[in-house]
Amino acid sequence: MKTIITSISILTLLFTTALVVGDDDRYKKEKHDEKSFFSRLFEKDLDVAPVKNTVYKEECGSCHFAYQPGLLPARSWKKIMGNLENHFDENAELDKEVQTELTNYLVANAADHANYKRSRRIMRSLSKGSTPLRVTETPYFIRKHDEIPSRLVKDNPELGSFSKCAACHGNAEKGSYDEDDVRIPGVGKWDD
Ligand code: HEC
Ligand code: HEC
Repeated sequence: MKTIITSISILTLLFTTALVVGDDDRYKKEKHDEKSFFSRLFEKDLDVAPVKNTVYKEECGSCHFAYQPGLLPARSWKKIMGNLENHFDENAELDKEVQTELTNYLVANAADHANYKRSRRIMRSLSKGSTPLRVTETPYFIRKHDEIPSRLVKDNPELGSFSKCAACHGNAEKGSYDEDDVRIPGVGKWDD
């Protein structure tokens, strides 16, 4: 009987916490950004938080993979979002309103505001003064990929660049970059 009562009070506590955690101002506007307490617990197993913002997915995922906010610090996202008309030789300009909304989303979920494993490691790898404009230029990324020869990437006619995360990482969309899930296009499973 005692264990039943204890279990019930633990459950009640969990649900109350879930309600409190779910009531985060930041997530109020974007319903789809809301997470239950349990999915937050589960997501801690992932490398970075997956993208839930549909506007972001549409606008910033049309030319390339929609990079998760947790892959770069807030200062990088601010710089990228402040210069969209000159975005890696392309014009990626947005309406002022959408630009502000997406900047807020990126900053709120940036690597320095996230508790996910890879976000923390990316932050640790950066020197204080540096503001990388590419995920692929962060010391953590470079260290993790330096054993992959360029004939499999840049000189690989089926790939061409490290920026295409999802081409090699089958679960990148879900925020998972486990090296066991890597398949290099035209080459196959990665085995080091
Ligand atoms: C018109 C096409 C286009 C749109 C729209 C676009 N980008 Fe890009 N983006 C590019 C190109 C081209 C590159 C360089 C890719 C390469 O070098 O392979 C790039 C690169 C990037 C990179 C660096 C990737 C790396 O190498 O680590 C980031 C970060 C990025 N974009 C963020 C965004 C964000 C945020 C948005 C939405 C506001 C966005 N992009 C919208 C074309 C676009
Ligand atoms: C050419 C295919 C390829 C591309 C493109 C690629 N990766 Fe990787 N990535 C790998 C391989 C292979 C490993 C494992 C390397 C090793 O362990 O030696 C890896 C490892 C990682 C790791 C560490 C995982 C672990 O288990 O330690 C992270 C995080 C990661 N990649 C993120 C990214 C991100 C973010 C992008 C896009 C900006 C990206 N990768 C693009 C092939 C790729």
